[in-house]
Amino acid sequence: MNHHYKELEFPAIPAGRPYVGVNMVMSVDGKITVGGKLTPGSLGSDFDRFTMTVIRSHFDAIICGAETIRQHPYYLGVTKDFEALRTARGQSAQPLTIIVTTSGDLPLDAPLFAQSPQRPLILTSTESYQALRRKLGKRAEVIAVGQDKVEIQPALAVLRRELGIERLLLEGGPSLNYQFLHAKAVDEIFLTLAPRLVGSDADLTMVMGPDVLDSLPRLELISHFQYENELFLRYRVPVEYQS
Ligand SMILES: NC(=O)c1ccc[n+]([C@@H]2O[C@H](COP(=O)([O-])OP(=O)(O)OC[C@H]3O[C@@H](n4cnc5c(N)ncnc54)[C@H](OP(=O)(O)O)[C@@H]3O)[C@@H](O)[C@H]2O)c1
Repeated sequence: MNHHYKELEFPAIPAGRPYVGVNMVMSVDGKITVGGKLTPGSLGSDFDRFTMTVIRSHFDAIICGAETIRQHPYYLGVTKDFEALRTARGQSAQPLTIIVTTSGDLPLDAPLFAQSPQRPLILTSTESYQALRRKLGKRAEVIAVGQDKVEIQPALAVLRRELGIERLLLEGGPSLNYQFLHAKAVDEIFLTLAPRLVGSDADLTMVMGPDVLDSLPRLELISHFQYENELFLRYRVPVEYQS
């Protein structure tokens, strides 16, 4: 298959936090779910799923909101053929999986926990920490940042300082995407435009939160390519929208 994103250039890592990329697939009418969820193939093609792995191969860790994991409790790693490439670049063979949750309501028998090459990391609040250690501690590492919910910037500082994560890939969902953007902690966005129309007003869009984002960040399109009827877009978030 075509490896469009195999070689990627990244700007310098920001001070005090990892460099953050977002990767999402969206229909032409702007939806990222179909009937309330995203099942494999419902929006993106096999090529899009392959491209997800290529993008992941550049990142030290992949982070997701718990609802995304509840719907797709699969390992967020790379296929075997990327391991050697990663090790040659000085990265760990597989990226670390990070899940953000306060409830800890996660399927512990699912492949993500039962068959991961590496224990996932649970990022939670200090109020939930003890309960989640008890609930998930056998299958995952648990760390807490923020009192009643995870605070994005302090959490990113911990990921950089204590875990050495330099590049972090956020794979949704929309509520976590919103919080990262609201915290001015997104550096770039990979977006697959799938040639589909969904139509339902109950389906979700890529970034969903209570307010309009401060100053409506104006993205810079830094690359695009087409594969059959799918478009692969890479946008940079302007520096004035970073902190
Ligand atoms: N098209 C795409 O590319 C794509 C990509 C990803 C996801 N999706 C879809 O998006 C949907 C899920 O999106 P969503 O926005 O509903 O959920 P989400 O962002 O995946 O997860 C939300 C959950 O994450 C936890 N969470 C979020 N922020 C937190 C914080 N600051 N502190 C602590 N916990 C926090 C909470 O978990 P607890 O409730 O456990 O406390 C919250 O209920 C799914 O249908 C999924 O398939 C689509």
